[in-house]
Amino acid sequence: MATLLPQDLLARLEARYAVKAFDPARKIPNATWEALETALQLTPSSYGLQPWKFFVIQDAALREKLRAASFNQRQVTECSHFVVFTHTPEVLESDVDHFLDSLSEARKIPREKLSGYRKVILGDLEGPRRPFLTEWTRHQCYIALGNFMTSCALVGVDTCPMEGLVPTRFDEILGIETSRFRTVVACAAGYRSPDDKTASMAKVRYPKNELFDRR
Ligand SMILES: Cc1cc2nc3c(=O)[nH]c(=O)nc-3n(C[C@H](O)[C@H](O)[C@H](O)COP(=O)(O)O)c2cc1C
Repeated sequence: MATLLPQDLLARLEARYAVKAFDPARKIPNATWEALETALQLTPSSYGLQPWKFFVIQDAALREKLRAASFNQRQVTECSHFVVFTHTPEVLESDVDHFLDSLSEARKIPREKLSGYRKVILGDLEGPRRPFLTEWTRHQCYIALGNFMTSCALVGVDTCPMEGLVPTRFDEILGIETSRFRTVVACAAGYRSPDDKTASMAKVRYPKNELFDRR
């Protein structure tokens, strides 16, 4: 498998920036989008529980409503694909069983051999992690967001991660208030407009000696 040279990786990451103006006429090709959905599917999560659902919004009327619930940020309607990352604030015993069923099937492990692991996971979720479960599953969405943005950058797709939105309004607009899922964050994906002045602005990052403590 070909690997990226370090300088090519950095060139991709340097080229990534939070896009303010997308070119509404440019759509992500289907094959690229399918790969990006697979990249999202491949996102790692704690224990592998995948406590999320990714809503991909193409409908123009829905996008208009979501834009109104995002402080009128134009990226919502102008990007090619708009993704809303939602989490399950609760993790149920049935979620753990769903995961163990998939694990058993994917790795051909008899289900009964996973009972020890089941105990470990449930012991954690019902024990020390119990008070933080909601925050914990919310955090998983940020792993997916980071993975998605980097994957996009590697295939030349531009993004804008978006927390500037009202999650409860998003839940209403998406009609998920009665489901198990709740909005955490969103990401617009597509191609930058040539008029986006942000593209040429210098990156603002602290020096490495402030960021790293190597021992
Ligand atoms: C979780 C998250 C939420 C963000 N929310 C918004 C947003 O709502 N609107 C926006 O224009 N930029 C948003 N940004 C972009 C950041 O301001 C931007 O990533 C940061 O200033 C660094 O700049 P760069 O990404 O262009 O390198 C968000 C970034 C992150 C990581």
